[in-house]
Amino acid sequence: MKILVTAGPTREPIDPVRFISNRSSGKMGYAVASAALARGHAVALVSGPVALAPPRGAVLTRVETASEMLAAVRRRIAWCDALVMVAAVADWRPLRCSARKIKKSRMPSTLRLVPTPDILAALAPAKRGRIFVGFAAETGALKSEALRKLRTKRLDLIVANRVGRAGTGFESDFNRVAFYSAAGVARQMQLMRKTTVAREIIRWIERKASFKRSA
Ligand code: CTP
Repeated sequence: MKILVTAGPTREPIDPVRFISNRSSGKMGYAVASAALARGHAVALVSGPVALAPPRGAVLTRVETASEMLAAVRRRIAWCDALVMVAAVADWRPLRCSARKIKKSRMPSTLRLVPTPDILAALAPAKRGRIFVGFAAETGALKSEALRKLRTKRLDLIVANRVGRAGTGFESDFNRVAFYSAAGVARQMQLMRKTTVAREIIRWIERKASFKRSA
């Protein structure tokens, strides 16, 4: 199969030296790309800024902002059979990016923010027979929020995980996730390595694709 994976955070610039971003390390997305390659799939990886070596064999596109990530995913969407949106896309960007470093003495006490594009929502019309997998990182109501995103973003699978706890989630090598499928199947996993979660996601996609082929 041809699998398109996004990973890492995006950065939304305030000026040439400052930006708004989040804690995503890219480990989960890179693990998904590696797991897909290990299973013999063709992989395109669209990555925000991370400190990881790209998996060998993946076609890598580096991006910085949510808009750049959207453009890169759009360019590849017709190519892929499955899209796995692991990236932690920044939801807001400063309305204006100053061309020069803003001096401390001139820094405004408030920043005007505007929403970034929702990449999955923007690509929903291009979904057709493709398998879409999303992630939901939550500190609050995990299941209901994951199910809401599964529905509104027209996903086949959402991988939900709780963030803000030591030893799991952002920056960690481990994650405790639950799978919720559009077909109504829920699966709560134990705390496991992100590489193991990644293999489970690829297996899920393979099963879904073979089920679709035989349907
Ligand atoms: N996502 C996206 N484009 C965005 C934000 C998120 O495509 N601008 C994708 C993420 O890659 C993830 C899924 O949508 O696969 C859910 O992301 P999340 O940040 O949990 O959801 P949001 O839509 O941002 O919702 P909320 O802020 O209400 O939690």
